[in-house]
Amino acid sequence: MDSAKKIKNIRSFTPPPKEDYVKFVLPNRFASSPLDIEIGCGVGLHPIQFFKANPDRFLVAIEHTKEKFEKFQRRFISHDQPSNLLPIHANAISWVSQQLSPNSVDHFYFLYPNPNPKSGDLNKRWYAMPFMHKVLEILKQDGKITLATNEKFYHDEALDYFLNHWKLDLVEDKELQIGFKPRTHFEKKYLERGETCYNLVFSKRT
Ligand SMILES: C[S@@+](CC[C@H](N)C(=O)[O-])C[C@H]1O[C@@H](n2cnc3c(N)ncnc32)[C@H](O)[C@@H]1O
Repeated sequence: MDSAKKIKNIRSFTPPPKEDYVKFVLPNRFASSPLDIEIGCGVGLHPIQFFKANPDRFLVAIEHTKEKFEKFQRRFISHDQPSNLLPIHANAISWVSQQLSPNSVDHFYFLYPNPNPKSGDLNKRWYAMPFMHKVLEILKQDGKITLATNEKFYHDEALDYFLNHWKLDLVEDKELQIGFKPRTHFEKKYLERGETCYNLVFSKRT
């Protein structure tokens, strides 16, 4: 796709009004552990799999829809509130920009975000949002961004934006098909329908 020229300049990020959050501090035990952030984790299947598979990493999983967050929280409690996972009910743009300092995060996950396919809604897609300036400021050198989608146009556009606008390096560009163990509820639904899912991983240049 020759769309590097079509990419519009993305205005600088204006933080949303301050919210009254409990100040985030990594628990002592994880003070020197990698910190990962999942944005829009839905009912929390990925965070639950993740905390078990990564006992030496700390994941903050953020969801702003109340009903989904409550399901996630019930799942968190039924798994004995693992100490390396923090569920947050908030708008991720507000929480992340208020709570995290530059060069502090190892990996951001955006798994099956709403693709906002209408042509006028480009500015609602994560890779074209001013918030991405903040994400990249917070991401450590060599830190990673994983983005998964079932929409080919979203995959292609994300690839273009992350490589040509944000100047990240591509680590993985993988197609997932039925048979792949689903990480999220949306991934499960799409794979069971026989759709192809796309998993992109980028790295911030050192
Ligand atoms: C299509 S769902 C995918 C959920 C989950 N990642 C999955 O794959 O099953 C997208 C989710 O992102 C959440 N979301 C969208 N914008 C958000 C924001 N600014 N802060 C927190 N969550 C957000 C929505 O509430 C929704 O649950």
